[in-house]
Amino acid sequence: MKNIVILISGGGSNMAALVRCAARDQWAKRYGAQVALVVSNKAEARGLDFARAQGIATEVMDHKAFPDRETFDAALGDLIARYDTPEWPALVVLAGFMRILTPAFVERFAGRLTNIHPSLLPAFAGLHTHQRAIDASCKFAGATVHLVTAELDHGPILEQAVVPVLPDDTEATLAARVLTQEHLIYPRAIARLLQRG
Ligand code: GAR
Repeated sequence: MKNIVILISGGGSNMAALVRCAARDQWAKRYGAQVALVVSNKAEARGLDFARAQGIATEVMDHKAFPDRETFDAALGDLIARYDTPEWPALVVLAGFMRILTPAFVERFAGRLTNIHPSLLPAFAGLHTHQRAIDASCKFAGATVHLVTAELDHGPILEQAVVPVLPDDTEATLAARVLTQEHLIYPRAIARLLQRG
């Protein structure tokens, strides 16, 4: 089996979209792949309840319990590595995981570490993407799925979706419009990666 490990910090709606798509499109049968583990760095992340209800293994790894970023990332990496199989190293999917990862972690999972970012990268890397798009009078906004490299919110783009920015948009209304598209492009990007093998 190809194991997919999804990392979250909060609502987990992208994770849920991936899990639902995996079931609907029969990723197990089609690609021999399954969402095997959901990890959160926050115990109160609402996404954990959804994962548990689906019978998916969950782990909480609280970054505050570790002395520094390097130690946390090493432990997180070791946890994920338990889901490698001899024929296939686990695919690591960041889905609203609000932690900056160390170069060592990125290197360890290079080529099989993906992220979704709520902007049309390379525009608006970092935080507050929707407000920044509104402040810049952008006419379009969107989301990007990319492979993770050492530079924050960079790396080869796998999928993008574009939405209009409407004149009366607030950060919240734009975020909601973008999020509906995220739920389409992230599963599509992961399915493509699984297809490629
Ligand atoms: C999503 O909009 C995702 O793109 C964003 O956080 C949200 C998580 O929602 N990620 C980042 O900002 C990463 N820098 P979710 O927990 O409901 O999937």
